[in-house]
Amino acid sequence: MKVAFSKVLSGNGVLAVVALLFLGANAQTPAAKEGSTGDPRKGQELYTSYGCYECHGRQGQGARTSGPRLGPGPISFPAFSRYVRQPRGQMPPYTSKVVSDLDVADIYAFLKSLPKPPSEKDIPLLK
Ligand code: HEC
Repeated sequence: MKVAFSKVLSGNGVLAVVALLFLGANAQTPAAKEGSTGDPRKGQELYTSYGCYECHGRQGQGARTSGPRLGPGPISFPAFSRYVRQPRGQMPPYTSKVVSDLDVADIYAFLKSLPKPPSEKDIPLLK
């Protein structure tokens, strides 16, 4: 088992793939800083750890008594990040000291990654 593993690691093809993955991960970082792309998986963790789910539901579905639906199909990113910083209603504000711009981008990516519900035309019972 040990031998097979080191054989795989020393293969040039594998090294090339690892190098590509590494370059790919690096290439994503500047875009994430601009808020255009975040990491949906990290975003889901942050969404939970910052407590967004307490008012907006675990999948951003919202609840009548605590907070509106946030996804799927969230509002535009600029409007989203502005609202998180300066809410106008009952939601508590989250300054960049608490939730960084990168975190907001990740949370947004999570909400954007939520699958859209099927169209009513695709649900036989509703035909
Ligand atoms: C204590 C409850 C509460 C928590 C926690 C909370 N929100 Fe909200 N949020 C609300 C309420 C209520 C609204 C509706 C407007 C208002 O009263 O501010 C809202 C509105 C929003 C809106 C505007 C939605 C729209 O369609 O205009 C966004 C975006 C949002 N929340 C994101 C977040 C994120 C991201 C977090 C976590 C970092 C979060 N909220 C945590 C209660 C909460």
